[in-house]
Amino acid sequence: MDPVRNPYAPGAGQRPPELAGREKQLAAFDVVLERISRGRPERSVVLTGLRGVGKTVLLNHLRSAAIAKSWGTGKIEARPDQGLRRPLSSALHMAVREIAAAHPDPESVDHFLGVLKSFALRATADKGMRERWQPGIDAPAVKGRADSGDIEIDLVELLVDAAGLARDVGVGIALFIDEMQDLGPDDVSAICGACHELSQDTAPLIVVGAGLPHLPAVLSASKSYSERLFTYHRIGRLDRDAADHALIAPAQREDVEFTRDALDLLYETADGYPYFVQAYGKATWDLAADSPITAADVRVAAPTAEEELAVGFFGSRYERATPAEREYMRAMADLSGDDGPIATSKIAAELGRKPASLSPARDGLIKKGLIYSAERGFIGFTVPHFGRYLRSQTD
Ligand SMILES: Nc1ncnc2c1ncn2[C@@H]1O[C@H](COP(=O)(O)OP(=O)(O)OP(=O)(O)O)[C@@H](O)[C@H]1O
Ligand SMILES: [Mg+2]
Repeated sequence: MDPVRNPYAPGAGQRPPELAGREKQLAAFDVVLERISRGRPERSVVLTGLRGVGKTVLLNHLRSAAIAKSWGTGKIEARPDQGLRRPLSSALHMAVREIAAAHPDPESVDHFLGVLKSFALRATADKGMRERWQPGIDAPAVKGRADSGDIEIDLVELLVDAAGLARDVGVGIALFIDEMQDLGPDDVSAICGACHELSQDTAPLIVVGAGLPHLPAVLSASKSYSERLFTYHRIGRLDRDAADHALIAPAQREDVEFTRDALDLLYETADGYPYFVQAYGKATWDLAADSPITAADVRVAAPTAEEELAVGFFGSRYERATPAEREYMRAMADLSGDDGPIATSKIAAELGRKPASLSPARDGLIKKGLIYSAERGFIGFTVPHFGRYLRSQTD
């Protein structure tokens, strides 16, 4: 059918034509926004899940929900080996600009911007001025607050002041952090410390993070109280109804239908993983001649979808791994029939190596976001169906 009218959207962070199966998380977030606006205590929020389950997309929807309530918002994507100071100052700058026009006292906004500038400029100071970088903040720097150089102290001061501005306006500020597991240890600890301080104050500023399944462990390794600091939402596969809805609703808007058999087969193939739902939906639409889309259409389109996933979803990630890391993942794939977590001791046995000698490969893969440490002594692929993909490559 007409590819121009194809509604499906496979791709990292691509807004789906229909956000299916996330009603619970959206409703819970509305309650959080409303409670904070009314000065009630609330926790910050963390979304966790495997690759391609829709964390970024949901994070963006939560951001829209905050904007709809006139909150100030900003977003960062954490990267390994990158400090928090710079991206956070840009995100907070944006959030404060959004609420500044409604603030009764422009001078206190300017004062805050001066503090923010000092905070941001420490990023250059930290690097020994190797690089000249200007935060682009149109206010004179205010010295003596949020600029000690200790990220934990500075972040608490900065966020408490930002929350004060939001409180004056009668709204809140939400800072969104995607790929949160990639923050460095000092930055994680600073975020937790700041959230702790803010919640004791019922200050109207929250952090909304998203990351891989081991993010809660990263947070609690940093601060033991982090379990009580955040509300965790595990984002997973779509159930049958939600997966069907993700396919049917956008098609309906184009006057296209699916047969029951087609939906059965699509669910079996995509396994409810949002990225796969979009990928198979898209390929099937393009190859189907007419509405209704049938199971035969799904069968014809499946190899195209698989090829695209092999390049865009699996292959691009596999290529980031070194030869030793690839060997490690292949051993994992051979051991995990269902792609669930695997004991690291078994992997060592499979490779005929001492567990300690495999630590560099394992740590490298964790750092690259390809595997995660599940419970103690177990690791899993962060990419759904990755084991299956690797087995299909070597078979
Ligand atoms: N609730 C949903 N309903 C239908 N499709 C969705 C839903 N959530 C996400 N998708 C689709 O799934 C794909 C992956 O989404 P997204 O990039 O947000 O995943 P992610 O969890 O952030 O992955 P990664 O860990 O790789 O960053 C996109 O193509 C998106 O359109
Ligand atoms: Mg993402």
